[in-house]
Amino acid sequence: MTHMSRIEAVKTARLRPLRSAAVCWCLQAILAVLGGGQARAETGYDGWLRYAPIEPALRDRFASVPRRLVLLGDSPVLRTARDETVRGLTSMLGEPVVSQASRGGEAVILLGVLDRVRASVDDPAMPSQLRADGFWLGRVATRQGPALVVAGQSDRGVLYGAFALLRRIAMHADAGQLDDREEPSASIRWVNHWDNLDGTIERGYAGRSIFFDNGRVVQDLTRVRDYARLLSSVGINGLTINNVNANPQVITDAFLPQLARVADVLRPWGISLSVSIDFSSPTKIGGLDTFDPLDPRVAAFWKDRVDAIYRAVPDLGGVVLKADSEGRLGPSAYGRTHADAANVIARALAPRGGLIFYRGFVYDHLMDWRNPKNDRARAAYDNFHALDGQFDANVVVQIKHGPIDFQVREPPSPLFGALPNTNKVIELQITQEYLGQQRHVCFIVPMWKRVLDFDLQVKGTGTPVKSFVSGRLFGRRDAGFVGVSNIGRDVNWLGHDLAMANLYGFGRLAWNPDLPSREIAEEWTKLTFNDKPLVVEVTVGILLESWPTYEQYTGPLGAGTLTDIIGVHYGPGIESSERNGWGQWHRANGTGIGMDRTAATGTGFVSQYSPAVAAMLESRASTPEELLLFFHHVPYTYKLRSGETVIQYIYNSHYQGAMNAAAFVERWRRLGPFIDPERFASVLAKLEYQAGHAIVWRDAVTSWFRWVSGIPDATGRRLPGRVEAESMTLDRFAVTAVTPWETASGAQAAVCAAGGLCVAHHRFQGTAGLYDIAVGYFDENDGEARYGVSVGARRIDSWVADGQFGSASPNGHTATRHTVRRVTLKPGDEIMVDVNTTPPDGGAFDYIEIVPARD
Ligand code: GCU
Repeated sequence: MTHMSRIEAVKTARLRPLRSAAVCWCLQAILAVLGGGQARAETGYDGWLRYAPIEPALRDRFASVPRRLVLLGDSPVLRTARDETVRGLTSMLGEPVVSQASRGGEAVILLGVLDRVRASVDDPAMPSQLRADGFWLGRVATRQGPALVVAGQSDRGVLYGAFALLRRIAMHADAGQLDDREEPSASIRWVNHWDNLDGTIERGYAGRSIFFDNGRVVQDLTRVRDYARLLSSVGINGLTINNVNANPQVITDAFLPQLARVADVLRPWGISLSVSIDFSSPTKIGGLDTFDPLDPRVAAFWKDRVDAIYRAVPDLGGVVLKADSEGRLGPSAYGRTHADAANVIARALAPRGGLIFYRGFVYDHLMDWRNPKNDRARAAYDNFHALDGQFDANVVVQIKHGPIDFQVREPPSPLFGALPNTNKVIELQITQEYLGQQRHVCFIVPMWKRVLDFDLQVKGTGTPVKSFVSGRLFGRRDAGFVGVSNIGRDVNWLGHDLAMANLYGFGRLAWNPDLPSREIAEEWTKLTFNDKPLVVEVTVGILLESWPTYEQYTGPLGAGTLTDIIGVHYGPGIESSERNGWGQWHRANGTGIGMDRTAATGTGFVSQYSPAVAAMLESRASTPEELLLFFHHVPYTYKLRSGETVIQYIYNSHYQGAMNAAAFVERWRRLGPFIDPERFASVLAKLEYQAGHAIVWRDAVTSWFRWVSGIPDATGRRLPGRVEAESMTLDRFAVTAVTPWETASGAQAAVCAAGGLCVAHHRFQGTAGLYDIAVGYFDENDGEARYGVSVGARRIDSWVADGQFGSASPNGHTATRHTVRRVTLKPGDEIMVDVNTTPPDGGAFDYIEIVPARD
């Protein structure tokens, strides 16, 4: 065949889909629905608050739950507690549960604040007091009959108690014998959003903002209400709705009525609104020629603005401030301290009871990389520890969990242990900026717990990070947790159904950081899907293994996520961290890798920890191995405790990680008959994509380290069956070098630059049999390219590449794979990959990989 007639053959070939595993799960799902299995159409919108009807066979277990409810007292939050209880129980129990004004002699659910309930119930089982936001659930006998009591320390406590009762029943746990007293670990359990007023979201991966559009608050706040419901159900009590890189307009008179509308929607859920502010606002919106925090005119500006905000939102929680960081203006412009900056605003807020969250994420992003003593990790401590005691009582320093920036593995920030006289919160990132951006499953709770449980040994042993952020250790009232969530308008909020476990887990941990990861994952799975043993086993298993797996293929031994840190922080881009001012260096060179942060020979960062912790980290031998490269520069031949060298560990862990990701797909497939087809299919598609991208990561990282170290993989692993695009016969494709080189197999790709139809041909020379053919290609975000695979005249698959991976070039973000399963091949067969595209989308294609078919 001539090249042109081959192109014609591709054009006219009919799509003959394979009988693939994908078809099987579809059938399974349909059969399950026909057979009376899980038939409810699910979008993920309800998150973990689905209140799925309890199967009739189980309903007896809940016969003792009263079907009548009496609310003591009245307030917007109490009414929410009542309505949610009615809604949840009616849906789950399959019969009406009604609210009534007063009691007859029948059993009731009694909702109210503790003091009020105690006035009408005299039962020794009831606690006499509860800590802030706490609740008690119990069964009591009253003169008017038995009651199931939901008593809260405050209205909000009642709402939390109601959600806890509903959670219990939704998980089919016994509600007969109730005696549950719960109090949150800390008073601050807030969520931050990095939403911009134009509706975009910084580091958001699930659609546009639910709060803003076109410079205004959106008209329809239904989603805000439904989001508040989700947050409230896990104990969140504060919400900052705009980006820390703040637009000063948000506190202008013109904008305040819009903020008030959002606050009105949050209020019935016990959530107070807060806003991020811009420190240079006095000049940007106040008509002043200075924003010097010590200038009385600036103090007057802040007082005026704060008073105006409180007139619009009387129960404002406070403000968040990012200053002197990543180009944001701050007190350094006038030689003032962070305490000066925080206090001038704190003083305006204090009479109203408002808090200012001053972000500890302050560092120099123009640092000289040539100086081996420079170290971004030092920045938070260096900038803040000497200011301890100088912050006003309503200032809270908001500290990212690690000293760098939400990498796949970091030690805790030493600043937690260094501010005994300052209020502190830990900032955790729910949105998966460096953790696969909700295209990869990565359940972050185990990672957060690693940090929260890390013993900083500040007052001897037994001072884990969680004891600082709960405020217990230094007796601080204003302490706690802030999670950066960045949910968007995607119907399931975070884009990946499994990512919602992170939002849930954040709330649960903020409430109780002692909860085990497994328990949180199990709760979430039962509430979100169901409690069938296989569903729980598979989902919880994948969740718990997902962070270690992601770490295995993206960032070894504490080196940090080896992503493109200059770009979108997603795919591999190993050298992007080096030789620039951002300071996310891993210092990989020809002989070794890692940042020397020791006191003896390195940057001295370890000395920011207590002497006991510093001593442990100073020595390679006693540094926890998962953080080895965070603290030490070691030769590639350095032997780990297992006997493996560091370089071999890098090879092995990347292969292992990619294998685990592939196994997630197979494990998930088993759930076809047991969960709804919508979410089953959507998670399956994500896991399949992840398995492909994990291979992209594996190949990029292993080839880069082979190149830089000059040390081959001792196992001699090869990539069997891989045929590079550049070695195929190409019609209209041009071969081009890819940047960074390690993100394309063989450093090159075939690009269909002129658009139209381009075809690549390969004559199969292996033995006859059944094969899987993986196509490595690049899904750019500047258009839509159509890919197809044919064997001879037989069209065996086609698909459209229209993903949005944050880049319009072939690179580690856009690199992906599509696998055509179970293709019959015999020697001499011609395999063709065709691309039909319109510039500027280059329809780039990297390789095919022909391997014996998996069963
Ligand atoms: C990260 C993130 C930025 C964000 C910053 C912050 O660097 O990439 O988008 O603005 O953190 O937390 O302020």
